[in-house]
Amino acid sequence: MVEKAVEIAPADGKLGILLVGLGAVSTTFVAGVEAIRKGTAQPIGSLTQMGTIRLGRRTDNRSPKIKDFIPLADLNDVVFGAWDIFSDSAYEAALHCGVLEKAHVEDLREQLESLKPMAAVFEHNYVKRLNGTNVKQGKNKMELAEQLIADIARFKAEKGCDRLVIVWAASTEIFLEQSAVHQTLEAFEKGLYDDDAAIAPSMIYAYAALKSGVPFANGAPNLSCDIPALTKLAEDTGVPICGKDFKTGQTLMKTIIAPGLKARMLGLEGWYSTNILGNRDGEVLDDPENFKTKEESKLSVLEHILQPEVYPELYKDFAHVVRINYYPPRGDNKEGWDSIDIFGWLGYKMQIKIDFLCRDSILAAPLVLDLALFMDLAQRAGMKGIQEWLSFYFKAPQTAPELYPEHDIFIQLMKLKNTLRHLQGEDLITHLGLEYYD
Ligand SMILES: NC(=O)c1ccc[n+]([C@@H]2O[C@H](COP(=O)([O-])OP(=O)(O)OC[C@H]3O[C@@H](n4cnc5c(N)ncnc54)[C@H](O)[C@@H]3O)[C@@H](O)[C@H]2O)c1
Repeated sequence: MVEKAVEIAPADGKLGILLVGLGAVSTTFVAGVEAIRKGTAQPIGSLTQMGTIRLGRRTDNRSPKIKDFIPLADLNDVVFGAWDIFSDSAYEAALHCGVLEKAHVEDLREQLESLKPMAAVFEHNYVKRLNGTNVKQGKNKMELAEQLIADIARFKAEKGCDRLVIVWAASTEIFLEQSAVHQTLEAFEKGLYDDDAAIAPSMIYAYAALKSGVPFANGAPNLSCDIPALTKLAEDTGVPICGKDFKTGQTLMKTIIAPGLKARMLGLEGWYSTNILGNRDGEVLDDPENFKTKEESKLSVLEHILQPEVYPELYKDFAHVVRINYYPPRGDNKEGWDSIDIFGWLGYKMQIKIDFLCRDSILAAPLVLDLALFMDLAQRAGMKGIQEWLSFYFKAPQTAPELYPEHDIFIQLMKLKNTLRHLQGEDLITHLGLEYYD
């Protein structure tokens, strides 16, 4: 039976996408949207732009494009803003990052040059490999948050935006665990006044977003809005949040292959993953404290997909190693090797080798677009707090504390599409095949 559709405010007017960090991912994202608007590129890799959604029974032949099924902001209504610790425009930053070919960047020069970053909230202690000068000064962290809140309001007014979304695509910060200052809003706000070291810049951005009523998506593995004080603030202010860490490259492959091995009840003895990359992200992750944040995010994936506690004969005690090596000649063109030791019938051993010559930011850019559009949709549909249905996009999906994250990309996709069906009052599709009984 068809459910009642959820009321969704129309996507009228302009949507401002504010990017924290104007590096490889952000500039590749902005350049791509500009090229699509110019009609010189297709939105490849973007589910919101290219994906379809099946409705009703297979025999109904109803499979509209997602963007025709649910009201998403039109790409022509999107405007960009950013913060970065370097004052380079998106044009200069794109040339520096070297993801896109020079001719490609030149073709979009005018659009990219007009995007200049606002001064950032940054502290060297959290990203020791970087030193920038486009940085805000304030007498404490609360004052810095207030400056961000003022930036957000000014951007909205100057660009004539109706709605905003913020996406963290800045460098990965050092590893931090939740502590007392993260537990309640009162403790957190006191910590902002006291300059508590456990409050990282990414948390200050998240706080400023929520205080401004702006959805916040976290594309890096740092905690950011994944702390009780901020998840509660998101609930209380009715603002959607999601994270963490864009699912690209090696982890994308892992979450495609591991569910397949499990589906066939093939055992796993070990999974060794190593990467070489030479972009600024790689340089930041070369610092052990920053790598630890990334490692935690990458390691959690297999345990959750394979469920060793349910299948001890197949998955108990498998070895899982993840390495990232900074190797400048490769730039953004990462190479990720996986050596996977599996076993089958009668315990016979087999091996799978993957050598993924990928381009990190080319894989990440469409995720930024989808997340921005879906987060805006979520807000217009009155969805608040953690948006678990967007786990599809993340390596370490943020969930409510009592839940474990879902990592299987196929379950994540089903959940995402069923959420869209639910919002529009369509039957959820369970692939149960009840038509056999008709
Ligand atoms: N496929 C991918 O590229 C991918 C996948 C998953 C996660 N990520 C994460 O996305 C983030 C961005 O990746 P990237 O390749 O674009 O990195 P990048 O180094 O090219 O860009 C990051 C930018 O953030 C800026 N920055 C650092 N701290 C800041 C702050 N406090 N405020 C404002 N700007 C700040 C830096 O100056 C830099 O320009 C990283 O955290 C990375 O780990 C990337």
